[in-house]
Amino acid sequence: MRKKIIAGNWKMNTTREQAEILGSEVVNMVADEVNSDALVVIAPPFVHLSLVGKHVLPHPNVYLGAQNCSQHEKGAYTGEISVEILQSVGVEYIILGHSERREHAGETNEVLAAKVDSVIAGEITPIFCCGESLEVREAGTEIDFVSKQLTESLFHLSAEDLKKVVIAYEPIWAIGTGKTASSQQAQDMHAALRAHLAGKYGQDVANEISILYGGSVKPANAEELFGQPDVDGGLVGGASLKSRDFVDIVKSMA
Ligand code: 13P
Repeated sequence: MRKKIIAGNWKMNTTREQAEILGSEVVNMVADEVNSDALVVIAPPFVHLSLVGKHVLPHPNVYLGAQNCSQHEKGAYTGEISVEILQSVGVEYIILGHSERREHAGETNEVLAAKVDSVIAGEITPIFCCGESLEVREAGTEIDFVSKQLTESLFHLSAEDLKKVVIAYEPIWAIGTGKTASSQQAQDMHAALRAHLAGKYGQDVANEISILYGGSVKPANAEELFGQPDVDGGLVGGASLKSRDFVDIVKSMA
C-alpha cells in the first residue's frame, strides 16, 4: 500500500517566532484532530529546522522536511546544505526540483538526478517535483514533458531505490495562482506518470510510488483532489502557512 502524505512547503516565509508558533500549532492540531494513517511533513526554511523539529520530532506521524539540499557530500560549497547536515537535525524528507528552484536556481534534470542519488544514499526520502508550464499545457505536450523529467532524473535508479521516492506533480500554472488543476486533470496526469513508471519498472513497483498533487491546494478543493485514485496526497504551499487550513487539508486525506 502506498503512503498517503500531506507536505507543507513553507517556502521563504516565516520569521523565527512565526515558525515556532506555526510548527507547534500544526503538531498540536494534528495530535488532537487527525486519526488517519496519512503522514504529515513540514518543510520550513533551513534556519528554522531545529526549532520546528523540537515540536515535530516527538510526534509519530509528523515529519521534518527540507526544501532543497546540495548534491555534494561536504566541503567548499559556501551557502549550500548537505544531506548529512539535514539528517543531523532530524530531517526525513527533502523536496527536490521544485519549479521555483528549476526557474530561479537553474536546476536541471541532470543536477536533480545527482541530488536524488545523494538523498537516497543518506536514507532520506526525496519528494521529487515535476510539472509543466502553461505554455507546455496549451501546446498539449504536458504528459511528454513531465514524463521526460522523470526519465532524466529518476530512471537511472534501481527498482528498489525508485520505491524510496515520492513524486509531487505541480503544474506551474497552478502554483500560487489560486488556479487549481481540476481533479480530472490531476488524475489524468498522475495516471499517465504511473503508467510511465510501470513501463520502465513494472506495474507492481509503479503501484507503490506515492504521487502527490501540488498547486493551490486548499481546504475547499482538497477532498475532491485526494479522492482521485492516483492522487496520494498533496504538496501545499500558501495554505500550509495557516495552521487551521493546513490541518483541514490533512483531515481531507483521511
Ligand atoms: P501553492 O499551494 O501556494 O499553490 O504552492 C504549491 C507549491 O508550490 C508547493 O510546493
